[in-house]
Amino acid sequence: MAEHDYDVLVIGAGPGGYVAAIRAAQLGLKTACAEGRETLGGTCLNVGCIPSKAMLHASEYFDAAANGKMAEMGIEVTPRLNLPKMHDQRLDAVGSLTKGIEFLFKKNKVDWKKGYAEFQDAHTVRIGEETVTATNIVIATGSSVTPLPNVEIDNDKQVVVDSTGALELKQVPKKMVVIGAGVIGLELGSVWRRLGADVTCIEFLDEVLPGMDGDIRKEARKIFKKQGIDFRLSTKVTGVTVKGKTATLTMEPAAGGEAETMEADCVLVSIGRRPNTDGLGLEAIGLETNKRGQIETDHDFRTTVDGVWAIGDVIPGPMLAHKAEDEGIAVAENIAGQTGIVNHDVIPSVVYTWPEIAGVGLTQEEAVEAAGGDRKAVKVSKFPMMANSRAKTNHEPEGLVKIVADAETDRVLGVWAIASVAGTMIAEAALGMEFGATSEDIAYTCHAHPTHAEAIKEAAMGIQGQAIHI
Ligand code: FAD
Ligand code: NAI
Repeated sequence: MAEHDYDVLVIGAGPGGYVAAIRAAQLGLKTACAEGRETLGGTCLNVGCIPSKAMLHASEYFDAAANGKMAEMGIEVTPRLNLPKMHDQRLDAVGSLTKGIEFLFKKNKVDWKKGYAEFQDAHTVRIGEETVTATNIVIATGSSVTPLPNVEIDNDKQVVVDSTGALELKQVPKKMVVIGAGVIGLELGSVWRRLGADVTCIEFLDEVLPGMDGDIRKEARKIFKKQGIDFRLSTKVTGVTVKGKTATLTMEPAAGGEAETMEADCVLVSIGRRPNTDGLGLEAIGLETNKRGQIETDHDFRTTVDGVWAIGDVIPGPMLAHKAEDEGIAVAENIAGQTGIVNHDVIPSVVYTWPEIAGVGLTQEEAVEAAGGDRKAVKVSKFPMMANSRAKTNHEPEGLVKIVADAETDRVLGVWAIASVAGTMIAEAALGMEFGATSEDIAYTCHAHPTHAEAIKEAAMGIQGQAIHI
């Protein structure tokens, strides 16, 4: 009889965990996956990527009809919002995709163990009443909302909400205040602005979207401001009190100073996410987390405890579904004795606002820093979407593409874009960078006309000083 019940037990069925489980089973390993939620798919499918994109997509149509975009093209309509129906189509998308994972588990013979798992020792976990043993255990427990001191989130009341609550509002708020102008704040702030809310984003830093290229952050804010989102930068929220259906926020300058208040009928707290390790019983296996609460791993996703691996939002790196998925594949391959690798230098990130904001690789600031502060070691080229024929024809001239390249080798170090389809465009940049492309390689690659992607070619041509359309 085998020493353990399973070769692999994955804890958590988000994009990291469910992909790891399926890949492990495909590789011939006897696999189970523990998930505490009622449905598979984790944060991403249940309350993250998918439902937010369902609301973003639908509200974009509403906005185009309500705010003149359609009229610009000769389509005059007065839209009427049916919010319950918009929510229904969100739930349909979530329902069919989470069921899809259930089907894939059955197809690949992955056993779903329903319940929250807690380590007893490095090869044994308790899941509800059941005890399961496995030779390898992969921690893929993901992340959840970072709370803000003095602010109590109550998604049921729909006054102070987190991203999950903000996806489900039954009424369009009159005044919505978003705490944190990061990815969630701008995506979900955009949804409710488009549907009629007056939206203010309060951000601790002096610019929106931390981590992105400086020019892109500045340009993005200008575009959102033009769309009607108000920003209070360098401002810290210190507390929120709720009376009936009204929230009162207290805030002060980030550097300290006089406090002021602001009222809202909905407050979205979106100040980041933190790894899920509570209740996992890490102490039973002597596995410690770092200062940020993350589980550290080596390049192969091994933790310091033999037989225990970790992937996804619970380990360091960007908290993104595609990063978790790629790590899921790599960890399963490593467990099976193969060589699973994730190139963490080339992980694209996309903000699904309108226009979309996307990037991969180094920002200009990071590239200069990596060159020891030598600005001349980095070449930069920008191409405005206004000069791209397709974007202009489609009445979407906002944005730009920016390429950051090594001045000596011409190798592309980073690509940044604001464009209606920047999320799709960035795949080309990631592929090029994965193959070690120079900007000249991209400039000499034939791009179909008229496409938004031509802006990437033109930005690359610009590095050579040879752009045609500006
Ligand atoms: P998760 O998806 O968080 O899954 C972990 C699972 O583990 C959960 O289902 C949890 O219930 C389960 N679990 C936890 N502890 C236990 C336990 N002890 N036992 C059993 N089960 C347990 N990323 C993108 O790339 N693109 C996007 O467009 C995007 N949009 C987002 C929108 C929102 C509103 C949010 C909140 C996030 C978004 N993200 C997006 C981030 C993305 O959802 C995460 O990066 C991704 O889900 C991480 O995957 P994971 O597998 O590591 O963890
Ligand atoms: P975030 O890290 O993107 O942004 C949080 C913002 O809140 C930061 O700009 C920070 O400076 C600010 N902040 C922190 N404390 C504050 C305070 N007291 N007052 C005012 N501002 C404050 O985090 P967010 O938006 O919550 O998203 C969490 C994660 O989810 C992201 O890191 C991202 O990885 C993932 N995500 C990805 C999406 C995508 O890929 N499209 C969409 C949504 C989420």
